[in-house]
Amino acid sequence: MSRKLRRTADFEIVLDVKNDRFIAPPRESQRNALLNKAVAEFADDLNQLHRLAARFVPGLDTLQVQERTHADLTDEAIMEDWQIPLMRAMAAVATAGHGDLLEIGFGRGVSAGMIQEMGVKSHTIVECNESVIERFHEWKANYPGKDIRLLEGRWQDVTDQFGEYDAIFFHTYPLNEQEYLELVANSATFAEHFFPTAARYLRPGGIFSYMTNEIDSLSRGHQRALLRYFSSFSVHLQALQMPQDVRDTWWSDSMVIVGAVK
Ligand SMILES: C[S@@+](CC[C@H](N)C(=O)[O-])C[C@H]1O[C@@H](n2cnc3c(N)ncnc32)[C@H](O)[C@@H]1O
Repeated sequence: MSRKLRRTADFEIVLDVKNDRFIAPPRESQRNALLNKAVAEFADDLNQLHRLAARFVPGLDTLQVQERTHADLTDEAIMEDWQIPLMRAMAAVATAGHGDLLEIGFGRGVSAGMIQEMGVKSHTIVECNESVIERFHEWKANYPGKDIRLLEGRWQDVTDQFGEYDAIFFHTYPLNEQEYLELVANSATFAEHFFPTAARYLRPGGIFSYMTNEIDSLSRGHQRALLRYFSSFSVHLQALQMPQDVRDTWWSDSMVIVGAVK
């Protein structure tokens, strides 16, 4: 067994590696270097989380996910206003090439409007909720002559109608408790389940932008998930003005914006 320790005034990390063949490069010094690095990174992460947590807003205690595949939702239940700067930043990334864009999840149409204003060649939108689809038809009337198409249904059920795209903008949410448990609890980021699909329908050099749910940097797991499907990615931070009584499960004053390139 080998043991690594890291002690500060605030915490103590104890790593007991029970299996001698776990992380077993040719030399013991290499193993030590890898384990020391892992512990140092974890300690660094804890210190950074301490600084970030001090800036959190309290929010409301509303962690249960109602079934909302077909629910008639208010604007705020679809997307709270604090996310609007994120929509602008994600839309700017996705429309930079002004090509054929696929958007998953219409919601209130905030990002769709920004995508139209920023300019794309064609705009295909996938949406599964009937009341949101009604909103889509009203919204679309504001853009006569624009190449805007709707695919009705869950994206999982309409991929056979997908074409090839220069950009994909992904912003859905878990539709029910089961999706929450499957897609949020056990992944680096909620959008991870869509990474293979995004990579499959993007043209080479095409760009993927999505809600990252990362505060100030991407976790190693998140970066590795991206690099399994994309050749590179850019990262920048979007500052956020968070309401004290936010209902969503986001309490931090920034979020990472990613543009992943196929
Ligand atoms: C947060 S809203 C999108 C907000 C939008 N970006 C805006 O600016 O208004 C998420 C949308 O994704 C839709 N959605 C959720 N899961 C979906 C899925 N699997 N396939 C298609 N649409 C989905 C929801 O019905 C909802 O309209």
